[in-house]
Amino acid sequence: MSRSNQHARYRREFLRFLAASPVLAYGLRESWAQPAATALARDVLSVPDFETLARSRLSPAHWGYMASGVDDNLTLQANVDAYRNVQLRPRRLVDVSTLDSSIELFGQRFASPIFICPVGGHRMFHEDGEVATARAAKARNTLQILSTQTSIAVEEVMAARGGGLWYQLYMPQSWDDTEKLVRRVEAVGCPVLVWTIDLMGGRNLETSTRAQRTDAGQCIACHTTATGGRRTSVMFSGLSSTRINPSNATWDWVGRLKKMTSMKIVIKGIETGEDARLAREHGADGILVSNHGGRAAETLRPTIDIVPEVVDAVSNRIPVLMDGGVRRGSDAFKALAYGARAVGIGRPYTWGLATFGQEGVERVLEILQAELTMTMRQCGTPTLARITRAHVRHL
Ligand code: FNR
Repeated sequence: MSRSNQHARYRREFLRFLAASPVLAYGLRESWAQPAATALARDVLSVPDFETLARSRLSPAHWGYMASGVDDNLTLQANVDAYRNVQLRPRRLVDVSTLDSSIELFGQRFASPIFICPVGGHRMFHEDGEVATARAAKARNTLQILSTQTSIAVEEVMAARGGGLWYQLYMPQSWDDTEKLVRRVEAVGCPVLVWTIDLMGGRNLETSTRAQRTDAGQCIACHTTATGGRRTSVMFSGLSSTRINPSNATWDWVGRLKKMTSMKIVIKGIETGEDARLAREHGADGILVSNHGGRAAETLRPTIDIVPEVVDAVSNRIPVLMDGGVRRGSDAFKALAYGARAVGIGRPYTWGLATFGQEGVERVLEILQAELTMTMRQCGTPTLARITRAHVRHL
């Protein structure tokens, strides 16, 4: 579909959506004067509005994959709901006329503590895939972590990001393959390797499976090769197997990875203070508190509730990042107040990607950043260092 046809289609769908949406509260008329895609992305008021738009754009199978948690989606929902149990304790009459929300991580400076989590298969959501996401990350100087399940090779995504892309590792089954993959990522110049360790035991993406069954689309065209084989991830070319997440992995493997590469190692999927301590003792340079956005196991604790335990366990010696359920800038503020150094989003930016490509991702980042900085001003915290646990209260 040509770009102008695509814009016309977005516009039609968007108008339909507007009829029933709080987006209408925004001053639309002026915005229509601007180029279609930009104006439309700019007209979306909130991240949850993007979810509605994305759902209307995607095939049932692709929507189901994006939206799915495991089993009854209880962990997924708990992640989102838990922010409501954390209330703000704003301080008054603090000079907030100058505000700085930039962060430094492993020598890199980013404009915001809100970052882009690894999510597989962006081309399911938009034809420009991970390249569109990378261009948005570059435009907003935002940290992007690329998934091993990327639909576009790391070399191309790094070029679009203009450097500084982090890489998320799903460890292949053999050390030989792991080393090949790590060397490839290193050669591209990724400064940080994020090893995801929360999917070693299998999972049941039930919502996704149900959605696939209702989808009458011709999945074969994209998901299998000309000879009928299953298409493999671009990151597995040259490897002996596409199998990942060895179930015999132990903490010693963090040290083995450290010896293999000079990249910084961040461990993604930590959910207890005990494991945070072990990660640090085995040489991890950072921790990402995550339950895979509710896509790994059912009835896990919401990640916002885990952050204080993990931060305390590593006594601020290594940076603790978190993700899960962040839909508003105030959610990010609460995670920062509990001691997270940076706060990741998964589904929210894919909603933007599915709706408007690069512009959608940029708009999602812009909305969350604007909400975060407004919360910072309202709470009397002009810098991230000024945000403390005293600014929140758990119900
Ligand atoms: C993910 N996530 C994920 N994580 C990872 O380490 N590697 C991956 O390839 C993926 N793929 C993936 C696909 C989809 C569709 C989703 C929604 C999520 C998890 C992701 O990095 C992050 O932990 C969560 O998405 C954060 O939760 P929210 O923001 O989606 O609530």
